[in-house]
Formats: sequence, structure tokens, C-alpha cells
Amino acid sequence: MHKHIFKKYPAKDKSNLIALLQAVQEIYGYLPEGALQEVSDFVGLPLSRVYGVATFYNQFRLTPLGEIVIRVCRGTACHVCNSANILFTLETNLGITAGQTTRDKRFTLETVACIGACSIAPVITINDEYHGKVTVKEIPNILKKYNVQKQNPEKKAGVK
Ligand code: FES
Repeated sequence: MHKHIFKKYPAKDKSNLIALLQAVQEIYGYLPEGALQEVSDFVGLPLSRVYGVATFYNQFRLTPLGEIVIRVCRGTACHVCNSANILFTLETNLGITAGQTTRDKRFTLETVACIGACSIAPVITINDEYHGKVTVKEIPNILKKYNVQKQNPEKKAGVK
């Protein structure tokens, strides 16, 4: 692991646990198991305790993100506009539930609170692209575009 992460913090100081986990995640994009062990040794807490903290907070992830990250807004405006069914349809099409990544590491599905685009609710984002006023019917086609892109990487995904 990047040992320099530890340089900023005194050893055996449990109060830095969250900051250390944040620093690790910033580097790797998630918390690899080996890194959790090193953090555990450094702060002097059992691995099970470090793991417990990492799973308690939503900000931490224990698996790497997929190539394509789909986020479904579950804020109030989107909720009123059927976001629960949008999420359900995505889960069904991808074969995963929110918070998971497909086995081929292609898609990660997450839910988020209001992303500030309520006027085009319901909203999903795919990587950095916003898809507003999404309907359940459109989901298979949206996903298809991203799978097509995988076979033809030079071709840009068509995004609304
Ligand atoms: S509630 Fe979904 S963008 Fe605001």
C-alpha cells in the first residue's frame, strides 16, 4: 500500500481511523482487504473493528467500482416520478441490486440522494452523464448503448 498515507498520522491512534480509510479510498477508489489489514495494524484496532467501521459508513466501498457507474436518484422529486420502478428495472436488467457491481465489472449500480436536477426528474446518471425524465421503458435501450460501446470502443455511447 502507499505507505505515505501513514506519514501524516501518529501510530496507534484510533481517532484517525476514518481519515485513514478516506485516504486509502481516495487512492484505490475502494478499500482493498490488504489495506484494511494495514490500517488495522497501524491504528492498533482489530481488523474486525476496522471492517465494521468501513461497512457502517455509506461513503466507504469494499469492492472496486465497475467501468460504468449508474446512479439512481432517490430524492423526493424523483421518488414522486417513479424512481423506485426505475431502480427496480435497472436491478432486473443488470441482475444486481443497488450497491453491487456486475460480475464482469462492467456496471455498478448505486442510489443517491437528490443530485440537484429535480426539474428533469426522475434522473439517473451514467458515469458523468445525466439522463433526465427517464422512463422504465427506456432502460433496456439505454443499457444496450453501453454494451454496444464495449464491442466498439471507438464509438461514443449515445446519451440523451
Ligand atoms: S430529487 Fe432527484 S434530482 Fe432532485
